[in-house]
Amino acid sequence: MKKKFINAKIYRNDAATEMVVEDGKIIQMGNDLPKCEEEIDLDGKLVLPPYVDPHLHLDYVYTGRSDGGKIKSGTLFEGIARWHEIKKSQTASDAKERAMTAIREEVGQGVQFIRTHIDVTDPKLLGLKVMLELREELKDIVTIQIVAFPQEGMYAYKGGYELVEESLKMGADCVGGIPHFEWAREIGEKSVHSTVQLALKYDKMIDVHCDETDDVMARFLELLNALVMMEDIGARTAASHTCSFGSADNAYAFRMMGLLQASGINFVNCPTENAYLQGRQDTYPKRRGLTRVKELLEQGTNVCFAQDSINDPWYPLGNGNMMNILDNGIHLTQVASYDELETAFDLITYNGAKTMMLDGRYGLEVGKPASFIVLNESAVFEAIRKRVDVLASVRNGDF
Ligand code: FE2
Repeated sequence: MKKKFINAKIYRNDAATEMVVEDGKIIQMGNDLPKCEEEIDLDGKLVLPPYVDPHLHLDYVYTGRSDGGKIKSGTLFEGIARWHEIKKSQTASDAKERAMTAIREEVGQGVQFIRTHIDVTDPKLLGLKVMLELREELKDIVTIQIVAFPQEGMYAYKGGYELVEESLKMGADCVGGIPHFEWAREIGEKSVHSTVQLALKYDKMIDVHCDETDDVMARFLELLNALVMMEDIGARTAASHTCSFGSADNAYAFRMMGLLQASGINFVNCPTENAYLQGRQDTYPKRRGLTRVKELLEQGTNVCFAQDSINDPWYPLGNGNMMNILDNGIHLTQVASYDELETAFDLITYNGAKTMMLDGRYGLEVGKPASFIVLNESAVFEAIRKRVDVLASVRNGDF
């Protein structure tokens, strides 16, 4: 049966106020379209494609207090050490329940696409097995991509490389890495080479925790970008965090910007997470941890924002509210002129979808799935200024 959504204020589309949906797909867009048996009046509210969270650790969620919440330094490296202890007592049922709670928390706030980094430095691959099940079980409400992420190092963890490869064979969608955590720069570089080689061997996407440090000598982004450009796979590669690039000197950054544009690599930024973790060794001025988002966007490089953590050993807060992530991100990166605000929702919608290579499965166009969210405001500027809630989330034509 056809149904028609009327009186919609569609984001980045001034030509249509109505959408006709059949069999879960948008079959018509326009104005004054033929009457349908079922008509849903959206009352002039803003309609966006669903929120996308392209970087979330679903195996860590709600474990922030499981060691008593004893945060000392508040750094990335302390978080990794705490997780090393916490994960020893993890069970499959506990991991599944926690992940499901977090997914519900995100989905309830308009997220329908999640890329999750799952720690595979575990000989049992417990987190991966749980997430492979959930990816299938929950596919009607959320699309999940899994990154085989060697949290304790592809080489710093004995057998890490083999566990990443095994995870790809089991069905992970992306190859991960953490070169700045490996024990020497050469080993970090080796891990970047391995990440790219595995992606080519198994035809997977790449998403690397890349230079998540204030150390300006961490320049694994340079190597990752060069390798994926040489293989012509920049479009299926994401560099997550890249905090050190925000501290790099301008002469170096200036040269790199052109190369980053040429490769087509995607950037994932986690504003709340890195504002919390970075600058911990600084006195004042204190760095805020984000990469050069504004300049990357201005040159047309794809950048998106992500939640990263929901109450885990790295970050005590996080609730899956992408409006909060956008709010923090546009402040910290100063992407907040009136013109920039008109397209700022791209950072938590279309740009994340591009990073996840959702292509034909995402966006408000005829022929695509009728998946969208309705915000409690009509104008983009007012929606962001008021940080409005999601009123409804429609997936494949159904609420
Ligand atoms: Fe992360």
